[in-house]
Amino acid sequence: MTPVIARTRAELDAARAALPGTLALVPTMGALHEGHRSLMRRGRAAADAVVVSVFVNPLQFGAGEDLDRYPRTFDADLAVCEQEGVDVVFAPTVREMYPTEPQVTLKAGPMGERVEGAARPGHFDGMLTVVMKLFQLVRPDAAIFGEKDAQQLALVRRMVADLNVPVEVVGAPTVREPDGLALSSRNRYLADADRVTATALSRALRAGAEAAGSGPDAVRKAASAVLAAAAGDEPPLRLDYLVLVDPATFEEVAADHAGPAVLAVAGRVGGTHLIDNVPLSFPDRTA
Ligand code: PAF
Repeated sequence: MTPVIARTRAELDAARAALPGTLALVPTMGALHEGHRSLMRRGRAAADAVVVSVFVNPLQFGAGEDLDRYPRTFDADLAVCEQEGVDVVFAPTVREMYPTEPQVTLKAGPMGERVEGAARPGHFDGMLTVVMKLFQLVRPDAAIFGEKDAQQLALVRRMVADLNVPVEVVGAPTVREPDGLALSSRNRYLADADRVTATALSRALRAGAEAAGSGPDAVRKAASAVLAAAAGDEPPLRLDYLVLVDPATFEEVAADHAGPAVLAVAGRVGGTHLIDNVPLSFPDRTA
């Protein structure tokens, strides 16, 4: 079945009115890959109908970031949505989403200024603003986000809780290449040699996870060693951050931390910004 394509809010309203039962939204910026397919399947399991939005949101890109060269592959995206049985593809223009320069926008708060937010100031404010707009326009029962963007997922959950947004936020596991590289629309920027260096991110996370039994400091040390070695690769990995944080606040956890944590890493390979993370859990050693 070919999905209905809605380019305007009016077309979206008409398409939505024709859908039966509950609705899941999969928000995307296009350049769809296997990871997005898994979100669509999760959406299908969560609701009767699935809407995929395809919109490269200028508000979440900073000066000097890749807004202009971000891959726009609408025909291929549509084919993916068709194969996955998506009901509606909402693909508005920038003018349709932002008919006038927005004056009132969301602020992601302290969590939005940490970690990825410190590396990309304003990114999470723009992301939350467009996600809230999509929630208002699509009015889904559930929305599916990838766990690869762990801080984004935590912030959307926080927004929904703080602002009483009636949407169930569902996280879906990261999908990886056989060599461990997390799938990302930005992977298509990587040359062959970049691609080899980029696997250092997932190798660092794996090394960290394997050290989890010895506590947070051992995790940081094991992951750092892999990243330090990759700094000498050709091309080199330029590390933006490696953090071990509380998944609810994205603040660094202490050496005696017990409970859940996220080991998150970001770096640049040949000019491409890549992020990855793994969830961990530390036992209470005082018991
Ligand atoms: O994860 C993304 O692709 C984007 O941040 C999102 C959620 C579609 C908002 O533009």
